[in-house]
Amino acid sequence: MKKYWIGTSWKMNFTLDEAISYAKGLAFALTAEPELAVRAQPFVIPPMTALVSVSQELGARSERPGGLKLGVQNAHWEDSGAWTGEISVPQAVDAGAEIVEIGHSERREFFNETIRTTRLKVLAALRHSAIPLLCVGEPLEVRDRGGAAEYILSQAAGALRGLSAAQLNAVLIAYEPIWAIGSTGRPAEVYELEEPLRALREHFGNGIQGLLYGGSVSLGNAQELMAIDILDGLFVGRAAWTLEGYLELLRAAPAPRVTGASS
Ligand code: PGA
Repeated sequence: MKKYWIGTSWKMNFTLDEAISYAKGLAFALTAEPELAVRAQPFVIPPMTALVSVSQELGARSERPGGLKLGVQNAHWEDSGAWTGEISVPQAVDAGAEIVEIGHSERREFFNETIRTTRLKVLAALRHSAIPLLCVGEPLEVRDRGGAAEYILSQAAGALRGLSAAQLNAVLIAYEPIWAIGSTGRPAEVYELEEPLRALREHFGNGIQGLLYGGSVSLGNAQELMAIDILDGLFVGRAAWTLEGYLELLRAAPAPRVTGASS
């Protein structure tokens, strides 16, 4: 039975004190309320500065309450070397990460992330047994001219090109339309997500570990989004930046789908 992925990236937020206090509260809640992680597979992606402290609060990978997984928001494709300002996947894993977020639209837009670099990063994550969380999403002008599905398929197929079935099986894809992300974004209506999500699902079938949605997810729209039967989870920003907000989303997780999402 597949659990429903519900995770959050804290992006460039939280001091160490704030991160530790969130992590302590989360560890407490997942221990005191084990039912929180019966339907949900929780994951948290702190900023690099807080990863080690958060990991220490939550315990060794196999012992984290609720099976919580930690991740990083980015990692380089090389294992080490003269890459000033970067961190590698082995460093991220050493610091407690199990997930490597790759290709978020903010990184594509402001940090020159391309299909080529996302592909190299997916391979690096897989080399070190981390879960690549590949984000794809179209800008508004592409959506307006009817090209959303084609655009995100080319991002996903490009980054995942040449993977074996076993490698693909480790990958999470998050569909995050750029126009729906962040405080300047407009929350998507469920009908607007159907075609692009279906295109990804038809292309990858059940060969990937999960298909997630992200972009202005909130308690207000979580139920509707969770009712989309080809989705395996939600990737959340602002609504989960308070612990209570995140816990409420975990509480709302749908019942495990016996056969996994249909293709
Ligand atoms: P948001 O961020 O939920 O704050 O819109 C989502 C994301 O960027 O993944």
